[in-house]
Amino acid sequence: MPLAPILAPSLLAGDHAHLAASARTAADAGPAWLHCDIMDGHFVPNLTFGPETLAALRRAGSKQFLDTHLMLAEPQKYVEAFAKAGANLLSIHLEPAYDHRGTLARIRQLGCQCGIVLNPGTPAAGIERLLDLVDLVLVMTVQPGFGGQPFRRDMLPKLRQLDGWRRDRGLKFRLEVDGGIDLATARECRAAGADTFVAGTSFFKAADQTAFAAAFAAL
Ligand code: DX5
Ligand code: ZN
Repeated sequence: MPLAPILAPSLLAGDHAHLAASARTAADAGPAWLHCDIMDGHFVPNLTFGPETLAALRRAGSKQFLDTHLMLAEPQKYVEAFAKAGANLLSIHLEPAYDHRGTLARIRQLGCQCGIVLNPGTPAAGIERLLDLVDLVLVMTVQPGFGGQPFRRDMLPKLRQLDGWRRDRGLKFRLEVDGGIDLATARECRAAGADTFVAGTSFFKAADQTAFAAAFAAL
């Protein structure tokens, strides 16, 4: 049985002068998850927000499951701050050189779920040895750094490969996609094994966000 689909609206596409209001808009549409993109200007050529923003969202009443995507060259230095700020899941990229295994263990020790992320150019083989340690694998379907980019259909075989390993080994991690996701591209990803869908631009531009979320729930 495939895992039930989860939509994680991405706050990156919200109103950065009113992030708490954007988080509320996402929650009011139905999804329990909120995707928070953290960029450091080194691992990716852009900057967003930090742990204080997550803490402020909590103070403003957000009860969402904060799915926190760390696009950082040195994520190990920040996992504690994000856990204290109220993150529920911390995902770290495979590409930079640091102790991936130790950082995943530390995230768990801090009481959060942990995820590992692959850029489009990174083959799935690189995380094979980590699959039994994670709650989520995030397959980037764009080069990270910016919202609003076109979906990379050439990532579908990577999803099929990871879904196959998950099934063969009886593993339970969620398989998430991020970048260029709308209902049509989500359907293709769902057919390839994905169960968790980040949507920034398409969610915040949707005329009826409740209907949009309902369509994802039925994927
Ligand atoms: C991109 C971020 C994404 C971004 C997706 O680096 O990781 O989460 O918000 O935006 P859309 O859905 O607009 O492609
Ligand atoms: Zn993201």
